[in-house]
Amino acid sequence: MASANLNKLIDMAAPYWAAEAEVIATYFASPQRTRESDRAWLAVQCYKEFWGTSMDNINKGLFLGPVESLLAAFPKIDQGEDRHEILDVLEGLWAEFAHYVAFADAFDAMALPGEPKMSPSMVREHLKANPGRVEDDQLTAMRVEHKNKYGTIGMRALRFTEGGYCTLFSEGMKLKNKPRADFEKADIAIANSCSRVYDDEFGHMLKGVTGLDEDNLTDADWKLLFDLSKMQLQGRILMRNAQFGHPVGQARLDEMRAGKCKPLPFDYEKAKLAA
Ligand SMILES: [Fe+2]
Ligand SMILES: [Fe+2]
Repeated sequence: MASANLNKLIDMAAPYWAAEAEVIATYFASPQRTRESDRAWLAVQCYKEFWGTSMDNINKGLFLGPVESLLAAFPKIDQGEDRHEILDVLEGLWAEFAHYVAFADAFDAMALPGEPKMSPSMVREHLKANPGRVEDDQLTAMRVEHKNKYGTIGMRALRFTEGGYCTLFSEGMKLKNKPRADFEKADIAIANSCSRVYDDEFGHMLKGVTGLDEDNLTDADWKLLFDLSKMQLQGRILMRNAQFGHPVGQARLDEMRAGKCKPLPFDYEKAKLAA
């Protein structure tokens, strides 16, 4: 049974999740969409799945980071390093690499002969100069600040907002139902990639939700979690709009960031949480 505070947090988030979904759906239906713009957002997604969000040089990303921590843990398994935590790291490594593979497959499937194929180093170099990264870098900076400044609650907010209720994947999966005549092959490739990722990411999102009620947070903690999460969710809307080449204009973006979208219903049943 979810607590009143958790329900309140979910209700706060729901219009922002809806906004993110709207950004993505707007792009998919937009006349500005091209094969090139599809490859561009897929490249950003591959980057995120492999390197995480930070552009700094010390970032080891979602592959090398866990691999190094596993190597370091190896001599201490069950002698200081809990096997369940190691399994968690392994699961994360497997899942995020699987997501990279799914989106890289779609990216490569849309390549014309002679165009670059996906690789982690290619995408890292390529995206360094991408102007669409500004919003993503701003969001990352905010998340890092929240984590550094507010410790556990900051970390909780990060986990809660991660993935934005998987709206990229759920919107992508919908393309299969009615592919656009001019994008049929792309729509099916994207929908396939998104369905390969959706369940894992829903699980990752749940890790940020379940357990919140067992943490015995004070009212002040909940208030902080609420405020930090709201700021991050607003930042996510701009990040997604940039990833997709700014399909949504300023006026609608302002409404979205003011929480004016019709809330996306949270699936309590799938989350195994009673409202
Ligand atoms: Fe992922
Ligand atoms: Fe994930």
